[in-house]
Amino acid sequence: MKYIPIFSSMAEQPSLEAYERPALEPPPGTVALGSERTWTLLESDSLVSPLASGDVDLELGGEQFQIFCSVCHGSDARGKGPVVGPNRIPDIPTLDLHSEQARAYTDGYIWGMITNGRGLMPSYRRIPATVRWQVVAYLRALQAGEVAPPAETAGSSAIEAE
Ligand code: HEC
Repeated sequence: MKYIPIFSSMAEQPSLEAYERPALEPPPGTVALGSERTWTLLESDSLVSPLASGDVDLELGGEQFQIFCSVCHGSDARGKGPVVGPNRIPDIPTLDLHSEQARAYTDGYIWGMITNGRGLMPSYRRIPATVRWQVVAYLRALQAGEVAPPAETAGSSAIEAE
């Protein structure tokens, strides 16, 4: 039977084999559907949030901040999250996001930090790009005292007691 190819006319055809280069290069400057242009931390520094003031969703930004950032930076962003403290991540001064330094960063730089991570801080690219801008907006509101942080979690108050 192996000498009688079935549908040989379909096996030999001018279509692309798996892993062959796509016939068309994407036009320069375009981004393939489902992928995201990468921005380094330095490139991000000059980015401006695409969110119009009416699009800012502090509830969403706050929810994401509490999920992804509060473990290290604390739910109030003052740097005392539940994983920080004795026998945990050593106290790093930059964990306090109310510091002069953190306030002085551009929104783009903070977005870039969430995107790329820096030093011991991992990348949070898993948060969609526009939602990362919401996290930045929430952090700004937190720094300005415009929103109240949620009540401390049981985890972080345990650290305070140590
Ligand atoms: C695993 C712990 C951890 C998590 C989670 C984390 N960070 Fe960080 N973050 C750090 C560390 C450590 C540094 C200091 C990095 C360095 O020194 O380069 C830092 C630094 C920063 C800085 C710069 C502070 C400064 O003064 O230089 C910002 C802004 C920041 N983080 C925002 C965030 C945001 C927003 C999130 C949530 C998306 C987040 N981080 C999640 C550990 C974390």
